[in-house]
Amino acid sequence: MIEQTVLEVLLIIQLAFNFIKMTFKNKSLLLKNDSVYLRPLCVEDITDEYVDGLNDPEINKYLLTVRQHHQTRESVKIYINSNSESTNSILFGLFLIEDPKPFVGTVHVSGIDFYHYFAGIGICLFAKRAWGKGYALQSIMMTKEYLFESLGLHYLYAGVFAKNRKAVTLFKNGGFSESYRMKDKYRHIDSFEEGISFAAVNPSFDMSLLNSMNSYL
Ligand SMILES: CC(C)(COP(=O)(O)OP(=O)(O)OC[C@H]1O[C@@H](n2cnc3c(N)ncnc32)[C@H](O)[C@@H]1OP(=O)(O)O)[C@@H](O)C(=O)NCCC(=O)NCCS
Repeated sequence: MIEQTVLEVLLIIQLAFNFIKMTFKNKSLLLKNDSVYLRPLCVEDITDEYVDGLNDPEINKYLLTVRQHHQTRESVKIYINSNSESTNSILFGLFLIEDPKPFVGTVHVSGIDFYHYFAGIGICLFAKRAWGKGYALQSIMMTKEYLFESLGLHYLYAGVFAKNRKAVTLFKNGGFSESYRMKDKYRHIDSFEEGISFAAVNPSFDMSLLNSMNSYL
């Protein structure tokens, strides 16, 4: 009985610790290198370029959810707010250092799970002027480092259409490997196309994190 109570207290402490980690990220989280920085996006960051980019067929071609509805300032605001309020996702804004129009993209971390220690990751550079300069790769690397080293996650996954060559190259260069392919699963406009699930595993994952959960189970 006492043992059970102790284990329950330990579990509550762990959940509280995870909650604090997730709250902390919204307040002061900043990932930075010499060219770009990432921080949680807020509604004040919304620009016409962001909204227009999400409606550009060349940009949203492989973005399943975005392309299903015309995007407006209001729909983008709802999306940002839902991520700000979420305890298991982070919507980063990607900003260029020393650019008069710094906001060029987003990195979305979703489904953060502190039981399995995994999360999903997606990226969109809505500003085509920022394509082909390595900013996406830098952002993926910085986000991956944060999720592995600061949040202590074990596994990251990303779903990509096989035809989206830029995204396939990006995740391969970012240290992700192909886990499996999904033939015919996802609709892409007027056909069903092959999807690839990419994954990255944290080589330095702290296995002792599993101990408290194991004893509880
Ligand atoms: C997918 C996407 C993020 C890739 O962006 P990107 O700018 O091509 O990616 P990178 O930042 O890694 O840039 C790579 C390119 O920059 C070049 N580059 C220039 N300087 C570089 C540097 N210092 N480091 C790395 N690459 C550099 C590379 O050679 C490469 O060029 P290439 O495509 O002609 O071979 C972007 O195309 C996009 O947002 N698309 C729309 C949304 C989308 O499809 N998202 C993915 C859904 S899964």
